[in-house]
Amino acid sequence: MKFINQIEPVFDEKEKNAVMAYLNSGGWITEFNKTRELEAMMASYTGSKFCSIVANGTDALIAALLAAEVKSGDEVIVPDYTFVATPNAAELLGAKAVFVDVDRKNFCMDFECMKKAITAKTKAIMLVSINARYPNNIMEFVELCKEKGIILIEDAAQSLGSKVGNKQIGTFGNMGTYSFSSPKIITSGQGGAIVTDNEELFEKIKMIRNFGRVNPNPYSDRYLVKGWNFKFTDIQAVIAMEQLKKLDARVARRKDMGKLYYRLLGELKWLELPETNFNNSALCAFDILCEKRDQLQEFLRQNRIGTRSFYPALHSEPAYNYTGNFPVTEYISKRGLWLPSSNNLINEEISYVCEKIFEFGKTR
Ligand SMILES: Cc1ncc(COP(=O)(O)O)c(C=O)c1O
Repeated sequence: MKFINQIEPVFDEKEKNAVMAYLNSGGWITEFNKTRELEAMMASYTGSKFCSIVANGTDALIAALLAAEVKSGDEVIVPDYTFVATPNAAELLGAKAVFVDVDRKNFCMDFECMKKAITAKTKAIMLVSINARYPNNIMEFVELCKEKGIILIEDAAQSLGSKVGNKQIGTFGNMGTYSFSSPKIITSGQGGAIVTDNEELFEKIKMIRNFGRVNPNPYSDRYLVKGWNFKFTDIQAVIAMEQLKKLDARVARRKDMGKLYYRLLGELKWLELPETNFNNSALCAFDILCEKRDQLQEFLRQNRIGTRSFYPALHSEPAYNYTGNFPVTEYISKRGLWLPSSNNLINEEISYVCEKIFEFGKTR
């Protein structure tokens, strides 16, 4: 039996043919019309007025923060439990990432902790819909930010295709960002997107991603702002477009996979299945919490099953070394495990993973 990876990218002839057709067309590989087509598709899919495609999800966060005019001396509130790109984006612009603890139910930023962290220096809040979950009171975040004049950036890197009711996650804030890196529900290897309904922010992002050029033409040398090179490539765009066509089917399949895991593991008292609304969330990775996480991970590895531990509590990583009280993040970081979650995972593999988890429970 082959090793079951925790996650792997999935593509077929559609992507291969699209790349060949693009190369045969004589395109210049770098971003151009195909990237603009992908932007239109992403705007339409998410129900946003504007979409800007950039090289990766981290650049998407940096572009959003720059468009929000976040700079040295500003504070940006981020959850302690997230992928490190979220606080890095703020701190690498000279702002201070102010970590707050997460909600025990959905692992997203805790609303009350966030409220307490707001100061006169707070410029932006980065609400991470971690693993396609979201705060139940997401509208309270939106309203509070409006009332206080704080920019709300949704880091929806892990949530493309998941919704709150009928509205796509990533479209509640002033800007929302997504990632197309390899572990995501759709991928072009690398890639990122920023969506917004605000034309002014969109126009700023168009300059920021392209050296600060007023006119996107590469021979145009008029610079209104200082910008970066966050550009994508058309070769990735044709792959991303094929993947985007598969997104709805993947969302539906992931919901079914999640329900199957929950049904098979539901009776085990020694592990916790985080609360999940499968009507809305297509989990990026199927997760469990348990005391003997590291032993379980090793046992599964010996049985040819790949898993990944949750992210650490970022405030205490050497890169940050901030002090504070983050009991929920610390609790889940030590116990959380992502189980196999690839788009091509079959039900028999899920059953095998669950059997092995049962077996581990009997022996320890
Ligand atoms: C929550 C979150 N934010 C940001 C990123 C960064 O995206 P990328 O890897 O495309 O730079 C990721 C990617 O894993 C992520 O999970």
